[in-house]
Amino acid sequence: MHAVTYELIKECSRSGARLGKLHTPHGTFDTPMFMPVGTQATVKTLAPEELYAMGSQIILSNTYHLFLRPGHELVKKAGGLHNFMRYNRGMLTDSGGFQVFSLGAMRKIKEEGVTFRSHIDGSKKFLSPEIATEVQEALGADIAMAFDECIPYPADFDYAKQSTLRTTRWAKRCLDTHTSEDQSMFGIVQGGMYPELRKMSADQLTEMDFAGYGIGGLSVGEPKPLMYDILNQTTEHMPKNKARYLMGVGTPDCIVEAVNLGVDMFDCVFPTRVARNGTAMVPEGRLVVRNAAYAEDFRPIDERCGCYTCRNFSRAYIRHLFKAEELFALRLLTIHNLHFLLDFTKQIRSAIASDNFPELRERFLENYRG
Ligand code: GUN
Ligand code: ZN
Repeated sequence: MHAVTYELIKECSRSGARLGKLHTPHGTFDTPMFMPVGTQATVKTLAPEELYAMGSQIILSNTYHLFLRPGHELVKKAGGLHNFMRYNRGMLTDSGGFQVFSLGAMRKIKEEGVTFRSHIDGSKKFLSPEIATEVQEALGADIAMAFDECIPYPADFDYAKQSTLRTTRWAKRCLDTHTSEDQSMFGIVQGGMYPELRKMSADQLTEMDFAGYGIGGLSVGEPKPLMYDILNQTTEHMPKNKARYLMGVGTPDCIVEAVNLGVDMFDCVFPTRVARNGTAMVPEGRLVVRNAAYAEDFRPIDERCGCYTCRNFSRAYIRHLFKAEELFALRLLTIHNLHFLLDFTKQIRSAIASDNFPELRERFLENYRG
């Protein structure tokens, strides 16, 4: 029995959308869900209570960063990541695979694992399926991810195939290492932009006993229609009784399209990152609150939004804070953007429940400019 299980509540009869529940040691959460990113054991600028208030369920943290600083041994001494950062809802850690690979020239891949240089002090480090699993067990999130290679785009067929086969071998080594009973591990489907490799990866990983499945190697620079096409040809080979998590994807248009193709979980730095850059997310797309046009605009970011920021502060005030480089500005937009995306996934869930998901999707996409 896995510590984390997925319960399929309802399938949309006119699309691939699924309504479900994810049962974890830190509570039961509704899917489709968006997971705010807390890379370094903090969702930048926010307290856990602020995250609870906006309906945040599971948050994501990164093995790569916490392994380098402060170190997983220290987090373990603190009683694990939940205790260390005082977040008592769900938590998932990414395996470090993706971060190591995004460092490009600084790394070297072998069958055994990956050697790379720390982005903090340049020192030489090594991560393998065994080490990434041990580190994640020490961090103690509810969900750990298998150590994988995120194939760059573009990649030729032969490279993609060899890499995908290695990710399968690594996935097996992760499962063989994993012993924690109050943490579950998800495998990660790779395969690049090749449908037959996606099927091979999904089939091979499904044969192993993972609690759920990530879909990796998408949103890596390919055109969106290609991403949706490959995603469609990936989810169709994934088991119905396990959660499906599209890794690193999180703009509202991609979320609604991926839900349409049967995805249950998402994470993305987009809402929190653009917030710190002065951009607010709205149903029509983006509102760049730093713009001069808002200097004397005393309306909230979005009149329809019920977040703390929109209930209390004006565009003019937030713009002023950005111009004056006041830190409160970063908090206000982070609160709004996360509220927006968490509320959006809530609307998606209600629409699936009331048989209106295709209408919601159409209405949303008509209105949205990326
Ligand atoms: N985050 C976004 N894409 C990926 C991926 O392919 N693998 C992992 N481990 N994390 C990701
Ligand atoms: Zn708001």
